[in-house]
Amino acid sequence: MRALFLIFTFCLGILSPGFAGQEKDREVSVLSESVGTVVTFKAKNKTGQYIIENKKGVYKNKSGDFQMSIQYDEKKDLCIIEVKGKTEGWVAVGFGQTKMMKDAEIIIGYVKEGKPALFHHYATGWVKHEPIEKLDKNAQKDTLKVIKAEEKDGWTTITFSRPVGLKGDYFKDLRSGKMINFMYSLGKDDSLMKKHFRRGEIKIKLP
Ligand code: HEM
Repeated sequence: MRALFLIFTFCLGILSPGFAGQEKDREVSVLSESVGTVVTFKAKNKTGQYIIENKKGVYKNKSGDFQMSIQYDEKKDLCIIEVKGKTEGWVAVGFGQTKMMKDAEIIIGYVKEGKPALFHHYATGWVKHEPIEKLDKNAQKDTLKVIKAEEKDGWTTITFSRPVGLKGDYFKDLRSGKMINFMYSLGKDDSLMKKHFRRGEIKIKLP
């Protein structure tokens, strides 16, 4: 009887999602959510990790040369996004990609001689992105506002706002609480035509 009980408990353990070691070597996102604690959402995969703490989502890549944070200014209905990368070239984030880079709303920028430049693009192909204003002449303009930007000690940091409720074919739904694919990349110099030297992606929950 005791032996039967032991076999039964062992089988339950194997079938349960939390079975020890089950997630260990998987390269897909590991998602967890805990209610009532400070961390409300966590996602981890081979390119980095994302955590929501105090209504702020923070992604850090594994190599330690990129970080993105996203939070909301609820009164003004804005997303506030900070992008920080170890480069004197461009830094970029993308939301909602389907395959490789395709279908992502991309925000890409750099700081040159102390002045920021920020562009709103959309990925029309697996490895191709174009300015939204070129793809849709009626798309809302001046959607991005730079709040802070600097290039210092080999790092480029750009903080900007984007209205939450943007409407149009090339804007993604960035409302709080939504699950969305996120990607980032870093360029070696300020040329937006040149490919990234670092990139990554993860599925996140907007804070
Ligand atoms: C500047 C122009 C860009 C070029 C020419 C370019 C080119 C490419 C190419 C050729 C690939 C295929 C895989 C590889 O060779 O690494 C790729 C993959 C990728 N790119 Fe870009 N890219 C550009 C911009 C961006 C931007 C701005 C982002 C993010 C905001 C991005 C994110 C990614 C990601 C996440 C992948 C990997 C997709 C996968 O492996 O599934 N790229 N890119």
